[in-house]
Amino acid sequence: MTNVPYITLNVAMTADGKTDTIARRGALISSPLDMMRVDQLRAASDAIMVGGHTLLGDDPRLTVKTESLRKARLAAGKGENPIKVGIITNADLNRNCRFLNNGPAKIVIFTTTKTAPEKIRELRDLGVNVFVTEGLRVDLKKAITQLGNLGVKELLVEGGGTLNEELLKLNLINEINIYIAPLIFGGSSAPTFASSDGFEREYAKQLKLDSIQQYDDDGLVLRYII
Ligand SMILES: NC(=O)c1ccc[n+]([C@@H]2O[C@H](COP(=O)([O-])OP(=O)(O)OC[C@H]3O[C@@H](n4cnc5c(N)ncnc54)[C@H](OP(=O)(O)O)[C@@H]3O)[C@@H](O)[C@H]2O)c1
Repeated sequence: MTNVPYITLNVAMTADGKTDTIARRGALISSPLDMMRVDQLRAASDAIMVGGHTLLGDDPRLTVKTESLRKARLAAGKGENPIKVGIITNADLNRNCRFLNNGPAKIVIFTTTKTAPEKIRELRDLGVNVFVTEGLRVDLKKAITQLGNLGVKELLVEGGGTLNEELLKLNLINEINIYIAPLIFGGSSAPTFASSDGFEREYAKQLKLDSIQQYDDDGLVLRYII
């Protein structure tokens, strides 16, 4: 693959490895200190990607919250916020959702033919760049190449677990940042960081620990390079 962005995966999880509670309503895990780190990570990215269930369930804004970071992006000739990217089988998004309306930001959606043609028209009328691929799910390799062609050099992936694992399986992730909160959510059905159909032991991803950061609030940030 040519023109492939450097891809960083960022995840916030509890000490028992959960990225949400069993209610799957996008429970807050990051501490205020960690949110500042994530904001810097976002500000340094050209685009931020999330999966369909996160998009529909959590409706993330995916914007840079700190004004000085937004100003620095503008001063560097970038957009105020990174491009927002959705990977979603059926892009049945409410036109009033935060993902579509909080910005300003360019929005790119990769979807499949499961999205109704009138919905695709509506999204395009709202200024969204929509790419439709054949098949049951979005072709992630094509999507990543397409983002490279759009000028994305630094891509931040913010979950969920299904998207994370599929990208790992395709060897597309360069770096993983894991924030571990001093919390336990429990629940066997609560989502985890990589939660598609799993790896056989011989195909387990081998990581290289690059750094460990400990916050005063008992949170930890592990940075792994793949
Ligand atoms: N703590 C954190 O850092 C964090 C971050 C993000 C999300 N979350 C949590 O994670 C949960 C959602 O994660 P999730 O694993 O259910 O869903 P997800 O990864 O957000 O979305 C996965 C869905 O995207 C669609 N998709 C289309 N093409 C795909 C492809 N090639 N590869 C992968 N997915 C593709 C599929 O939808 P269909 O099944 O409809 O085909 C798939 O099930 C929520 O509870 C959310 O709050 C936590």
